[in-house]
Amino acid sequence: MVELKVLFATSEVAPLVKTGGLADVSGALPAALRALGTDVRVLVPGYNPVIAQLAQYQVVAQFDELPGFPSSRLLSGALPSGVPLLVLDCPSLYQREGGPYQNVHGKDWADNALRFGLLSRVAALLGSSASPLAWHPDLVHCNDWQTGLAPAFLHFEPGAAPGIISIHNLAFQGNFPPETVQQLGLPPSCYSIDGVEFYGNMSFLKAGLFYADHITTVSPNYAREIQQEQLGFGMQGLLARRSSSLTGILNGIDTDEWNPATDSHLARTYSRAKMSGKAANKKALQKKLGLDSEPDIPLLGVVSRFTHQKGLDLLLEIAPRLIELPVQLAMLGTGDAAMQKTAKDLSHLYPGQIGVMVGFDEGLSHQIEAGADMFVMPSRFEPCGLNQLYSQRYGTPPIVHATGGLADSVVDCTAATLSDGTASGFSFDGMSAENLYGTIARAVGLYQDKRKWSALCNNCMAKDFSWQRSAEAYRAVYAKVLGHG
Ligand code: ADP
Ligand code: GLC
Repeated sequence: MVELKVLFATSEVAPLVKTGGLADVSGALPAALRALGTDVRVLVPGYNPVIAQLAQYQVVAQFDELPGFPSSRLLSGALPSGVPLLVLDCPSLYQREGGPYQNVHGKDWADNALRFGLLSRVAALLGSSASPLAWHPDLVHCNDWQTGLAPAFLHFEPGAAPGIISIHNLAFQGNFPPETVQQLGLPPSCYSIDGVEFYGNMSFLKAGLFYADHITTVSPNYAREIQQEQLGFGMQGLLARRSSSLTGILNGIDTDEWNPATDSHLARTYSRAKMSGKAANKKALQKKLGLDSEPDIPLLGVVSRFTHQKGLDLLLEIAPRLIELPVQLAMLGTGDAAMQKTAKDLSHLYPGQIGVMVGFDEGLSHQIEAGADMFVMPSRFEPCGLNQLYSQRYGTPPIVHATGGLADSVVDCTAATLSDGTASGFSFDGMSAENLYGTIARAVGLYQDKRKWSALCNNCMAKDFSWQRSAEAYRAVYAKVLGHG
């Protein structure tokens, strides 16, 4: 059988460049697809850290005449996993101090339309007969708004490969002034409600959702939620109309990278069969974050972007009451400046009980998953969420708001679910500080019963969140789009 060829276009990929879960997915899903016999290649912009980590590469194409864009070239290399990598090298757009989307002050780059317009344009070019490469993908798989224009470019290119788009977060849409349509070389006619127009702007994400041959999102529950006004961010009408071409596929996790039995970031490794090492991780985490060394006080962990989406404002609001339960709190995150300050202020008010690290720290994120007793994720909305999957694998039951992928991946602990062995955390409906407090108090209550608590941790660790099942579901989508399904 001839291998299916897929170009996976993304704006971040672990371990080269990461701001959130999209990077984890872009690092792991292509590898899982390759293991199933799909020839996937990843296309990513050549930001500083990407270029710096590219051990060996070849220049495989040069683009000097893409209307509206500066010259760029394509480098071919590989990810550490062995997945072939195509790096879009355009120093004037990508090689800067700062993040993929924002400068060091947290402000969006002013030329993001051009930066991700080029990424989309090149993804589509590689999917068309005009591609300079010998390798021609059967399908272009786009991710989020940054590659959202690729399905539009593919649509206007006769004979091009089909394009699909995966929504990782509908809240980020890439909306720009209408003149961007022409600046980026799209036909003016596509600026219409049946096209890229979105409430008086042109929208990269809308373009993807309108022109893609299929849409996926990262959990079945989120696929339903985004067809409704409350979580549709204005796209609900279009998504509901396209519901027969919309599939929710729960993310998996990289079970080698996130494995408490082998994790080199940990003070001591442990496993489901041998849990004794977990306590050493709690002790080490308490020490690292300046918390009192208290083996029996439940330690709550948080690793998150500090944004409205993640609902941490509610956690910070109830933190003084939580300390009374008592619990300790270990937080790692970066984002909203006011939220960072509130968290820091709380750590000064409650030294030894609340520890906060502001920043992005891969090692500490693993140490919190392992060292905490419970993991808190009260997101207002959550397309999938990865940390609740990692925390289950690390025997650290998650406490979540039952939304999006959190609802799909955490089974609330009740007498019934504990006895049938399905319980894997705590969840609540109704986003409020009171509900969050009540749920944490419920978890702390169960923690006192060591036998029940270890049964819960055992359930968590027994769950299979590996990518294989999800990768098979993506293959089924590819087959459907290509008419093989
Ligand atoms: P989102 O992509 O919305 O931020 P996810 O739960 O899908 O949420 O993925 C977040 C990913 O980013 C996880 O791998 C998490 O561990 C990581 N992460 C988030 N914030 C930090 C941080 N401050 N330091 C290290 N890793 C972080
Ligand atoms: C987004 C979502 C998150 C999801 C991740 C990877 O960042 O906010 O819920 O897990 O993408 O799909």
